[in-house]
Amino acid sequence: MSDVCKIGLLGRGTVGGAFAGLVAERADAIAALTGKRPEIAGLLTRSEGDFQQILAESDVIVELIGGIEPAREYVAAALAAGKPVITANKALLSTHGEELYASANGSGAQLMFEAAVAGVIPAIRVIEESLAGAHVERVHGIVNGTTNYILTEMARNGLSYDDALRQAQDLGYAEADPTADVGGGDAAAKMAILARLAFGVSVTLEQVAYEGIESLTADDISYAKEFDLVLKLVGTAERINGGVSVRVFPAFLYPSHPLASVHGSFNAVTVESPAITEITMSGPGAGGIQTASAVLGDLVSILSGVPRNRPPAAPADIVTDIESAFYLHLEVEDRPGVLAEVAAKLGDYGVSVRSFNQQELGEGARLVMVMHRTPEKGFFAAVGEIAGLPFIKAEPRVIRVIEEEFTD
Ligand code: HSE
Repeated sequence: MSDVCKIGLLGRGTVGGAFAGLVAERADAIAALTGKRPEIAGLLTRSEGDFQQILAESDVIVELIGGIEPAREYVAAALAAGKPVITANKALLSTHGEELYASANGSGAQLMFEAAVAGVIPAIRVIEESLAGAHVERVHGIVNGTTNYILTEMARNGLSYDDALRQAQDLGYAEADPTADVGGGDAAAKMAILARLAFGVSVTLEQVAYEGIESLTADDISYAKEFDLVLKLVGTAERINGGVSVRVFPAFLYPSHPLASVHGSFNAVTVESPAITEITMSGPGAGGIQTASAVLGDLVSILSGVPRNRPPAAPADIVTDIESAFYLHLEVEDRPGVLAEVAAKLGDYGVSVRSFNQQELGEGARLVMVMHRTPEKGFFAAVGEIAGLPFIKAEPRVIRVIEEEFTD
């Protein structure tokens, strides 16, 4: 007969409930694999359970409460007591990760959090184990299922933003308060975690520049189709000139970028390194049972004795002078000289146009341009001046473009 692994489960929301069911369903298989049969021995919710008692009686703590407190206090106490912890808490790890990694190092307890980033995709396992020998230069990710679902439904089925968000909530993808999903904060937290692991420097959520999808319009999505571009909320973590940049922005992708074909609630993470060229992992990034599967995978790793060492990391040198390619959409009066003036302003700031399209708009014209990579500060200065020109009829719309394309 196999030993029992007693799990102290903190939280019984969408993921916690699914995890409890999955443990019961997979207990025999896990016992066969690891020699330990998992069972939920204690449950802490808002209305039941005592943390200290659960901690004392458990072999492993699974934290699925979310948010900072009291999750931080419970995770820290468990690690200090030498108990392995599994968490899916991206907010916690992206703000207090360093102290928790140090606590785990100090007591020798394992801290596992595959489910905190990109749901069931094993992005963390791959970066920390499979690619440990590669010098990672860049990580791109679609790491929020709610926003990818919303953008996909708007593009494919013409759903309004509100209807698509409601569906994402009904399907259990969104956070209890979806502000962090649509505002980009959830993706930013996940990119901070990935950057820390990929580059070995400490990155916190407050060092990530991010925007969400709230200000995107159906027009942006339909113009993207006209230009054969796909609009996604993309996280980027990259090494630049000895420092790192971590950011999350809506971005257009060319069709041959691996993230362009990631639709619905699926997430994907692309890792680039000279040693490996590029690999992309994709799969469900949100949802109760999917996320619970990743938590259970972490339990198997702990029971199998796979160690994860995260030595102390120096603070990242965050680079803010970065280059991006851009899409620029202008509504203008249709008269001689307009295009020349716009082009002159862009030229003044060294911005080079890659492609251009003009359409008649009744009384005026729509100019849509895609720029080559250029320093962001110069481009925004140029757009600020263009916005003040007398023939501009509406606030210019600017969206970043990821130029990379990967082919066989
Ligand atoms: N709300 C998150 C998402 C769930 O939409 O991706 C997984 O972290």
